[in-house]
Amino acid sequence: MESPFKVDILKGKVALLTGGGSGIGFEISTQFGKHGASVAIMGRRKNVIDDAVSTLQSLGIPAVGFEGDVRKREDAKRVVKETVKHFGKLDILVNAAAGNFLVSAEDLSPNGFKTVIDIDAVGTFTMCHEALTYLKKGGQGRSSSTGGFILNISATLHYTASWYQIHVSAAKAAVDALTRNLALEWGTDYDIRVNGIAPGPIEDTAGMSKLAPREILSKGREWMPLHFIGEKWDIAMAALYLASYAGKYINGTTLVVDGGHWLNQPRH
Ligand code: HXC
Repeated sequence: MESPFKVDILKGKVALLTGGGSGIGFEISTQFGKHGASVAIMGRRKNVIDDAVSTLQSLGIPAVGFEGDVRKREDAKRVVKETVKHFGKLDILVNAAAGNFLVSAEDLSPNGFKTVIDIDAVGTFTMCHEALTYLKKGGQGRSSSTGGFILNISATLHYTASWYQIHVSAAKAAVDALTRNLALEWGTDYDIRVNGIAPGPIEDTAGMSKLAPREILSKGREWMPLHFIGEKWDIAMAALYLASYAGKYINGTTLVVDGGHWLNQPRH
């Protein structure tokens, strides 16, 4: 689908995306690139990263890939440094890496709980922490452009409670807290805006195939407020808006992009 935004809204920006080689992360990588950004992607699977970089480059997007696990501080440090070495600076960090599986609280081991917290919450903090030095120098200040920018991909699970996702709910609640606290501290001190996006059901994603079988989804459409499942494109457009100068006054918020899905209650 064509973008409604001008193609140069991220011109000259350098973005690093964890989980940027697949799913929602890859669509954000692609759209950031199509709107002028140079893109570095980080992921655990070399083949996924390599394929993603080739696809981005075939679209004319300056792109580079780095293998790394957000749970390892040394990987975070190395990938941030290599990104800056390759492109000369860092303006935007997108934390899209996540882990998930369905399991009842009773059957979830403490290590399983910790694994998802480590990827989603600790991994997000680690990446933000390692990127700070460079994000401080990102952008050109308030007058001409946005300063550094962080985008954390969250969820809506924890707004209520979700079956078999106690680990992800806890992790995403922590991510939202990081978004608000960093927005306060780093917005004040360094002109870095920190925001989140909470996607609803999005087709063709690992989250969807792992968490919501097709038969549930086809029934689900009937009671979804807008009667359709979102696309990765919907998330990427929201990301573009927040990352661009259009979002210069948005800081510390998590934008729900779910067609109103989480608000839904059975009709009485
Ligand atoms: C129960 C499980 C499990 C499962 C792993 N564990 N899978 N427990 N059910 N299906 C437990 C293991 O038993 C182990 O605990 C601990 O978790 C660590 O497992 P490992 O396999 O060693 O972990 P690892 O290889 O690091 O894999 C991490 C992962 C994996 C999260 C388990 O699925 C992964 O990396 N996924 C990344 C891709 C992904 O999931 N993307 C989807 C994101 S969707 P014990 O006690 O046995 O040692 C998304 C959407 C959120 O985030 C919002 C939705 C609305």
